[in-house]
Order: sequence, then structure tokens, then C-alpha cells
Amino acid sequence: MELKNAVAVVTGANRGLGRHLAAQLVERGAKVYATARRPETVDLPGVVPLQLDVTDEESVRAAARTASDATLLVNNAGILTDTPLVAGGLDAVRLEMETNFFGPLAVTRAFAPSSRATAAAPCSTSCRSCPGCTRPASGPTPRRRPRPGP
Ligand SMILES: NC(=O)c1ccc[n+]([C@@H]2O[C@H](COP(=O)([O-])OP(=O)(O)OC[C@H]3O[C@@H](n4cnc5c(N)ncnc54)[C@H](OP(=O)(O)O)[C@@H]3O)[C@@H](O)[C@H]2O)c1
Repeated sequence: MELKNAVAVVTGANRGLGRHLAAQLVERGAKVYATARRPETVDLPGVVPLQLDVTDEESVRAAARTASDATLLVNNAGILTDTPLVAGGLDAVRLEMETNFFGPLAVTRAFAPSSRATAAAPCSTSCRSCPGCTRPASGPTPRRRPRPGP
């Protein structure tokens, strides 16, 4: 993938994998919006820090307005509460779904117009397994016909 003229948005870029991905994108020549719930915690040189909480619709919309030149979205922000789905507290389960499912979906929807306009694709750290990821496959997955029985 050519990154020299890419304009990347990385969610959760203040630490962990997001920080590393943002640094790598800068190194490869991309302009990088390093987004974080608290942008003051972004310490990478060469990036544009931007406030973005994936669970806050207004924050997502505002970030998409600011980074309207984005061509590449890395849906990285996420949490792991280790809450058992059946026996665990529902609040924690909800938080995990809001952050890891509806969050990336909201971010993808907000940034879709700019990335579509430039024919680039949103991407996720858990690529293609994330519901928010609309990265096109290289081709349609062929459907197998069921084998006729014996
Ligand atoms: N590390 C692994 O082995 C692994 C494996 C598979 C998938 N992943 C996925 O890869 C991603 C990054 O993993 P990591 O290990 O780097 O995690 P991490 O160190 O815990 O970092 C998580 C990042 O997400 C941000 N974040 C959490 N909730 C957010 C919200 N509501 N809005 C915006 N940002 C939010 C955090 O920001 P704050 O600093 O504000 O909390 C932080 O920047 C996660 O989605 C994770 O599920 C990781």
C-alpha cells in the first residue's frame, strides 16, 4: 500500500499498538491524525493530535469534520474487560460492545465519505474481523456449493 500521500487517522494512538501504528505511518510518509480520548497524552513527533472518543458520537463527528482529508482509517481503539458475557455485569458488557463494536462502526460511518472520495479504505487492527471494517476484499469469496450426498 502506498502511504506517501496517505492521510491516516489512527484511533487510540496515545499508547500501545495505536501509538506504534501511528509512528510507523509517519515514518512511511503519511500525514497522521493521532486521535485519543485525551489528545494531550499523544506524545509522538510529526503527528496531528486530535480528540476522539469512539463512544461519543459528537466527538466522532467533530473529528471527522476536522480530519476531512483522511484517506485511511485505522480503527485501533478498544478495551478488554474480561467480563463473562453470561455471568458478568451487564454494564461492563455494554461498555465493551459500545467501545469495540458500535465505536468502530460509528467512526467508519463518519469517515466513510472522505475515504470513499479518495478510493481508500478504512482498516482495523483486527482487520476484516471487525464489523466496522469496510476494507474491500481482493475479490468475492466464492461460495461453495454443497456436495451432493452419497
Ligand atoms: N495487544 C494485543 O495482543 C491485541 C490482540 C488483538 C487485538 N488487539 C486490539 O488492538 C487494539 C489495541 O490494543 P492495545 O494492546 O494497544 O490496547 P491498549 O494498550 O489497552 O490501548 C487501547 C487504546 O484504546 C484507547 N481507547 C479505549 N477506549 C477508547 C474510547 N472509548 N475512545 C477512544 N480510544 C479509546 C485507549 O485510550 P486511553 O489511553 O484513553 O485509555 C488506548 O489508546 C485494541 O482494539 C485491541 O482489542 C490487541
